Amino acid sequence: MCIVQRRRGGVKRGVGKRAKVAHEGGERAANRETAGSSAGAEGWVRSVGWGGRGWRCDVGRRARGWGVVGRDVSGGWPNRGRLVESGARRCMRRAFSSRTSTRRSSPMTWQPKLATPVLTQRIPSKPFGNPDDRHVVSYDEYVSTGGYEALRKALSMEPGEIVTAVKDGQLRGRGGAGFPTGLKWSFLPPAEGTQAERLEQGKLRYLAINADESEPGTFKDRLLMDYDPHLMLEGIAICCYACRLDKAYIYIRGEYYHQAHVVENAIREAYERRIFGGEGLLSGAATHDGQPFKVECHLHRGAGAYICGEETALLESLEGKRGWPRIKPPFPAVKGLFGKPTVINNVETLAHVPSIVEHGAEWFKTMGVEGSFGSKLMGVSGHVNEPGVFECDLGVPLSTLVNEYCGGMRHGKKFKAAIAGGVSTGVLGTDEFDAPMDFDIGRNFNVLGLGTACPTVFDEDTDMVAVARNIARFFKHESCGQCTPCREGSGWLYQLMTRIEDGNAKTRDLDLALEIGTSMGAMPGTTICGLADGNNWALRTIINKFREEFESRVKPTFVPVEMTVGAGAKG
Ligand SMILES: Cc1cc2nc3c(=O)[nH]c(=O)nc-3n(C[C@H](O)[C@H](O)[C@H](O)COP(=O)(O)O)c2cc1C
Ligand code: SF4
Repeated sequence: MCIVQRRRGGVKRGVGKRAKVAHEGGERAANRETAGSSAGAEGWVRSVGWGGRGWRCDVGRRARGWGVVGRDVSGGWPNRGRLVESGARRCMRRAFSSRTSTRRSSPMTWQPKLATPVLTQRIPSKPFGNPDDRHVVSYDEYVSTGGYEALRKALSMEPGEIVTAVKDGQLRGRGGAGFPTGLKWSFLPPAEGTQAERLEQGKLRYLAINADESEPGTFKDRLLMDYDPHLMLEGIAICCYACRLDKAYIYIRGEYYHQAHVVENAIREAYERRIFGGEGLLSGAATHDGQPFKVECHLHRGAGAYICGEETALLESLEGKRGWPRIKPPFPAVKGLFGKPTVINNVETLAHVPSIVEHGAEWFKTMGVEGSFGSKLMGVSGHVNEPGVFECDLGVPLSTLVNEYCGGMRHGKKFKAAIAGGVSTGVLGTDEFDAPMDFDIGRNFNVLGLGTACPTVFDEDTDMVAVARNIARFFKHESCGQCTPCREGSGWLYQLMTRIEDGNAKTRDLDLALEIGTSMGAMPGTTICGLADGNNWALRTIINKFREEFESRVKPTFVPVEMTVGAGAKG
């Protein structure tokens, strides 16, 4: 018998119908979770998606109930005015712990497959090289080390063959959502006629390169643009040829002033060496169909808004408008930049394309793990001895990344938590240090996903309430304000987190924070982009995985309980 029901006999008020419904709802949700069911028939099991991650079960607003009589969180039976946990809340706790039971892999079994660096072959990085030897790779150095050979090979291939190779290699986007790149390319409508005919009719097609990199803790694209910009440019040239795209715009975040300079210089070199421009794409090189193909490439600097990293906000910003995400559909592949078919890809995604063309899809699949093939740039920051960007196989356990690549935890402290891959993904808890960094991390460890694979590591001294307040402040500041749940919810969450950190909150504030955090961005059709969802995951996972810290900072919400029996009974 559940605790709530058992208490009913002796308690006149305080355990109402609502608490029982909530409890049962929580239990049902927990059962579904354990069974791995995706059925959302009850309304509080929802799908929350950021790029096709599939179903997630979650216990929503009906299964809350802090402040009603239940088990004392400290172990005993409830007293008046003490912080108590309802049956529903316990079910939620069980739901989360059952989810983490699907974990795979352990660092003991981890064997790296990446023998030589792919993306960082010209950027010395640990464990393959000494970062002190880094320098900007010029066009001449790039070519003398095998650069632009993949472009020559691509030009001799039928464009569709390149798309197929990228599809077969199962390259997934490195910008955060992990969407399959070849599939995205194949969503474009077929290009009609020759390029010359299309340009004459104004039927342009675009590539937008997402170099906004504004997710907090993420600095991996920066490494490529800092030192080896031609790798990205070669990927751009191949993508444009394969997808029949006429113009490429690199949208770089405003703060990347130095990187903008380096990339602009590389673009100039590429124009001079006949990669881009009217005489471009290695002018005179034989293409598959004998027809010349040319590509224009430009750099566009953003003005420092996080939301402009969202792909449709990026397009709006490129068009000279306020960076507001667009309602989809239509999707950019059909109606993108200036209303024309557009592909949007991350810098690192495009940097993978030359090696796939050069060595083939099967070679690419020798790295990483099933479902997450290839290598990945992982930027580690926070409480580690040697933060930095490392190229690793996808699937490397976080503990290996920290202990072997970053020289361990700073000052020999213990691991407490880590933001999985950008704040939007949420946190990994203390017992999730061995989480494999692959695209299944969301499903297996109750975070939003791999995101940018740039973890921020926290040691045992970290105040998780302060972390939550800081993240809430970020989302409140960056919400573009178009959608009410995001605009109002993010401000509200920040207020609640500040109140909890200051010690002025009550249990009902924590309850409210969870309710907002659980619902914001999760209800289909109420928000336009993934920012609200990111805010939701970030706050919800911190509160749920470090609940005791939050509980210890709030004052109990007083729930009067009228006793009918015993010494406290009236009359
Ligand atoms: C709020 C928000 C911010 C984003 N910021 C970035 C970013 O800075 N860089 C990036 O590549 N993708 C970012 N994305 C993801 C992009 O919308 C898009 O999925 C990605 O650029 C696609 O490239 P890919 O398929 O190569 O990963 C962001 C998404 C959201 C919702
Ligand atoms: S979810 Fe938030 S950031 Fe995204 S469009 Fe709506 S208000 Fe703007």
